Amino acid sequence: MAVLTWSETYSVGSAMIDSDHRILINLINQLHDAIETGQSRAVVGSVINVLVEYVEHHFHREEALMTQIGYPEREQHIQSHRDLENRVREARQRWMAGERQVLDDDLMVFLKRWLTDHILRADIAYRPWVEAAAGTHGDAD
Ligand SMILES: [Fe+2]
Repeated sequence: MAVLTWSETYSVGSAMIDSDHRILINLINQLHDAIETGQSRAVVGSVINVLVEYVEHHFHREEALMTQIGYPEREQHIQSHRDLENRVREARQRWMAGERQVLDDDLMVFLKRWLTDHILRADIAYRPWVEAAAGTHGDAD
């Protein structure tokens, strides 16, 4: 069951970041499915591993973009990235230690809400800077 779907209203003006966001939504949906269908600790663990790695990869890429476009709220935005990374890493650690209830509905609701709120509010906020930079360099995507 797909729980989240990317739509154009989530676009931040960068094809690369939009693609990352689609992948993250997909991974959260996969995690949801793995839990719903009662997959083993190893299987769910491997989905969490991919999610943690992709979250880190994506955040670093997005932070580099914010530097490149001179986004003034960068520091505050980065702090919210570190907070989510810590939360997801902690969930992974607890899951690997055998705490099945760590991936209960609360965590899934938290992840879905965090992702949609973060993209819709925090990420969308830098869109004008992405567009301005694309206009300057003539390489809008
Ligand atoms: Fe972000």
